Amino acid sequence: MERSPRNKTLQMTAEEQTFWQDKLVHLNAPTIPEAILNRTINGDLLEVIDFLPKAFADLIIIDPPYNLSKDFAGLKFKQRSDDDYLDYLELWFPQVVELLKPSGSLYLCGDWKCTAALYTVMQKYLTVVNRITWQREKGKGSKKNWKNAMEDIWFGVKNPKDYYFDVDAVKIRRKVIAPYKQDGKPKDWEATAEGNFRMTHPSNFWDDITVPYWSMPENTDHPTQKPEKLIAKLILAGCPENGIVFDPFLGSGTTSVTAKKLGRRYCGVELNTNYACWAEKRLQQAQENKTIQGYSQGVFWERNSQPY
Ligand SMILES: C[S@@+](CC[C@H](N)C(=O)[O-])C[C@H]1O[C@@H](n2cnc3c(N)ncnc32)[C@H](O)[C@@H]1O
Repeated sequence: MERSPRNKTLQMTAEEQTFWQDKLVHLNAPTIPEAILNRTINGDLLEVIDFLPKAFADLIIIDPPYNLSKDFAGLKFKQRSDDDYLDYLELWFPQVVELLKPSGSLYLCGDWKCTAALYTVMQKYLTVVNRITWQREKGKGSKKNWKNAMEDIWFGVKNPKDYYFDVDAVKIRRKVIAPYKQDGKPKDWEATAEGNFRMTHPSNFWDDITVPYWSMPENTDHPTQKPEKLIAKLILAGCPENGIVFDPFLGSGTTSVTAKKLGRRYCGVELNTNYACWAEKRLQQAQENKTIQGYSQGVFWERNSQPY
């Protein structure tokens, strides 16, 4: 079917698919960081997890299949009981934690239904230091229930007394409603030609990020793609420049792509070969274009306030 010219969703020809497929890594023996950095591993996390190097990642971002029946291009994840979902998390979560450096951070995404299981498994293997709620706006309406328009992102660390967190890198630029002055000078805000602004500490409620949609260049046909702006916040706060970000359920590559745009090294695992190829193509595009929608000039802009 012909796509509208304004539709920027990633497309891939059969030739490109063959080209990118050749670049994917397949692991069948223990490896070292140098062999997998800035690469995409195509395989089943459960089969490759024991081959990955211990304590190599500064930051791990996990966006696993939620406890919903979902078709990831043929891989059908089936909704199960809460206890069975917890057993599923136990199959890989403890081994993923072993890949984290002692000063590292780990973020684990989910919706309201699986969030209790996520908390249970995270507090068993890490110290939980926060829960971010992302108001993602889009969601299916229901006649008999509230529309589901939020997601949780649990934040855990190995050592709560010593972990990397750069709050200045993720402050938000907010319009000042009541510009208070002291001795005739702006108090904690700045007057600009576009209006009065101040930099505020970011909270654990995120309402300034939309899901990717078809007119955005970052969009792909992946059914549960995360926005680059959301991942950018996690990376800037949780990983130093040139540090390493790992994503065990890479999907269309958002974590690796955002890490590359922000000057971090990365590695991801994805079972589906098509998705892994989409990640590679997006990574190539990120070579030229480092734009992250909603983040520019070192600033996270409130929704629809970014200057162009
Ligand atoms: C929620 S999606 C991640 C989406 C991703 N954050 C993005 O922005 O595109 C989960 C991904 O995990 C993959 N997956 C599921 N089971 C897997 C496994 N055992 N090993 C590796 N990948 C797996 C699915 O194919 C799917 O792409």
